[in-house]
Order: sequence, then structure tokens, then C-alpha cells
Amino acid sequence: MCPEASASHVAEPNIEAVLQDEIFRLYGEVAENPEGDYHFYHGREAAELFDYDRQLLEEAPQGAVASFAGVGNPHLRAGVQPGETVLDVGSGAGLDAYVAARAAGSEGQVVGIDLNPVMCRKAREHVQAHGLRMTCHEAPMEKIPVEDGTVDVVISNGVLNLSFRKAQAMREMFRVLRPGGRLSVTDIVTGRQLSQAIVNDPKLWAS
Ligand SMILES: C[S@@+](CC[C@H](N)C(=O)[O-])C[C@H]1O[C@@H](n2cnc3c(N)ncnc32)[C@H](O)[C@@H]1O
Repeated sequence: MCPEASASHVAEPNIEAVLQDEIFRLYGEVAENPEGDYHFYHGREAAELFDYDRQLLEEAPQGAVASFAGVGNPHLRAGVQPGETVLDVGSGAGLDAYVAARAAGSEGQVVGIDLNPVMCRKAREHVQAHGLRMTCHEAPMEKIPVEDGTVDVVISNGVLNLSFRKAQAMREMFRVLRPGGRLSVTDIVTGRQLSQAIVNDPKLWAS
């Protein structure tokens, strides 16, 4: 049999599913074991590095601070006002949702989404334990279960780079924003084409 014919019978690995499994594993581990050794800044050290308010970090749910896994500080530009509705894309353990919920106040609300139900539960528990309003949908950012034009501010911190369908995720963020709404995303980008060895490594992509 020629090589092409045999290759057509080999099942293609589902790269998106492999990546999702790795994302579940890695961020689940940061949430369960924040003291572990990771090759990226996380927890309080990262939050201080990204200029999160120190007093706020003292008052925040400590589980959310310890498991913080963002790559920047979307709040510096988000300018969330009392009464606003904020969508936090990829809420993780909930530090960004907590910061946004404090700013939105009792008249506002934070809606989180996270692919991982465990993260969604943690974020909800962390934020609600401090008497703030947050709901969280277990959903992908590529299909956000929120009505068109209903959100004042979209924030996201270190999540877009994890998507297999970044353009679709961006379209979803703009779809849910009301006219004149705001988007504040912190993420990582590279100006160089990465080698295939890096691009094809789910561990590196997931982190
Ligand atoms: C870098 S963490 C977010 C940090 C978080 N904002 C915080 O306050 O700690 C990334 C989160 O995005 C979630 N995530 C990854 N890919 C996703 C996707 N396609 N849709 C929704 N959430 C996703 C992960 O499960 C993880 O909880």
C-alpha cells in the first residue's frame, strides 16, 4: 500500500481537544496547588508585579490571590464604574472577577465564563464569599452564552492566547458589548513566528 493511502486511515489527533485537556490540567493544578513550582509568575507575586493594589490584595479572597494566573492588569484601563455589567472572560480562580465586582458595586454585576467547571465554581465561591455579585458560566470564550449588546465592559487576562480560535473569541467579545462599551484585554503576543516544536507542544501553548 502506498504511504498516502495508509495515512488516510490514520485518525488525526484532535489538537484542540489535546490543548483543552492540558488547559484543564494546568490551571486546575494552579488552583489546587498554588504553592507548586510553575514556570510562569502566578499568585501574589504576579499580582504585585502587575501593579494590583496592595491593600486590595490584602482584602481579596486569599484563594483567588494565591491561584491568580493572569499576565497583566486589565483593570488599569477598564475603568469599571458602579452599576456596570462586566464580563470576565476566563475567570480562573476569580481574582479579576473580584476586582471588577468591587468596582461595579451592589448595583452592578460580574458575569464570568470559564471552560473549566472547577474554576467557575472556585471563582463564584471566592467572589460571593466577600458579599459581591458574580455569576459564572461554564462555557468557551468562542461561544459566550450572553445576549448581544448587554455588557458594558469585557475584561480578560491571559486567556485569548489559549484559544484555538482567537478570531472567533474576539468576535464573541465584540458581539456581547453594548454600543460604546469597553474592552480591556491583557495577553501575551510574539512578534516572531514560533517554531513548529513550540507551536505543537500543548504544554507550552497551555501556559
Ligand atoms: C490565565 S487564567 C485567567 C486568570 C484569571 N483572570 C485570574 O483572575 O486568575 C486562564 C483561564 O482561562 C480559562 N480558559 C482557557 N481557555 C478557555 C476558553 N477557550 N474558554 C473559556 N475559558 C478558557 C482556563 O480554564 C483558566 O481558568
